[in-house]
Amino acid sequence: MSPTLRITRPDDFHLHLRDGAQMQAVLPFSARQFGRAIIMPNLKPPIVTTDLALAYRQRILAALPDDLNNAFEPLMTLYLTDNTKPDEIIRAKDSGSVHGVKLYPAGATTHSDAGVTDIARCTAVLETMQKYNMPLLIHGEVTDPQIDIFDKEKIFIDRILSPLTRHFPELRIVLEHITTQDAVAFISDAPSNIAATITAHHLRYNRNALFQGGVRPHYYCLPILKREVHRQALIRAAIGGNKKFFLGTDSAPHARSLKENSCGCAGIFTAHAAIELYAETFEQAGALDKLEPFASLNGADFYQLPRNKTSITLSKTDWQIPEIIHFASDTLVPICAGERLSWKMTASAQDN
Ligand code: NCD
Ligand code: ZN
Repeated sequence: MSPTLRITRPDDFHLHLRDGAQMQAVLPFSARQFGRAIIMPNLKPPIVTTDLALAYRQRILAALPDDLNNAFEPLMTLYLTDNTKPDEIIRAKDSGSVHGVKLYPAGATTHSDAGVTDIARCTAVLETMQKYNMPLLIHGEVTDPQIDIFDKEKIFIDRILSPLTRHFPELRIVLEHITTQDAVAFISDAPSNIAATITAHHLRYNRNALFQGGVRPHYYCLPILKREVHRQALIRAAIGGNKKFFLGTDSAPHARSLKENSCGCAGIFTAHAAIELYAETFEQAGALDKLEPFASLNGADFYQLPRNKTSITLSKTDWQIPEIIHFASDTLVPICAGERLSWKMTASAQDN
């Protein structure tokens, strides 16, 4: 019999589900594996109010396939803008369904044009978030077009994040999808109210993947893949047992035609094989026993949510990822399209 690994059902603390028929196409992949997911608010138009978040939550629940009803809980977020009011934070907190507020520096990434132009404009809102224990989720890249794309995360930490943590020492912060050794060092040294998510693709690839034999749009995401030395630092953080690092896929579906384009958009789709991709990386690092805390425990603890009571089982099984996945009226190209993976989720149990 092939080796198996049973872990508490994991959660995805950073997920793009989109909306409508596109959401219908991708949601089952996440709901099958994860108990809960932090749902990114960068729709067009963005989710800027609690009312919009609650309506989006209902659409997600309604789109769940019958066999996954009650198996998946969307954890909603608000999209922070220059005009977000402190009252909105209180409404969000009172709803019980909004678990974070997302800071996109304006222009930093896909659908971020309505984001924050200057963090100083958000002082009152950040004070309210600190007071009401509402986490701030950060896309940590500066937007200055003069700054080299590979340095944008490090410079964001130095110029924006570091002062922010001093001005709001109690604010709970998640630096999303970290990509550099500088981010790993910053989070490791920070107090326990500051944490980070790590994607499967930043653990698996360095920036060479973008240019293997030609330009490879399906490896393009933001923050962009970095040098090998940074990937190694991310792996050490993920397997290192520090509770501040946890799973967030940043699975970000885009139609194939918008990726294979003269100006292809940022985002990598990983939801179809998310936990398997992480399992492969952890096994290669000799740390499969660290997968459960990273994928299923640390994030829930940071978000002050109960740990999941159900479990999933992964088996050492060779399987092939499809070349394309249907995406409403389009298709999308998933990560590792046509390649083989060595772990597969084979069962999902109701009780631990
Ligand atoms: C995300 C998307 O497509 O919404 N893209 C990405 O490259 N990660 C936005 C984001 O999280 O930056
Ligand atoms: Zn994202």
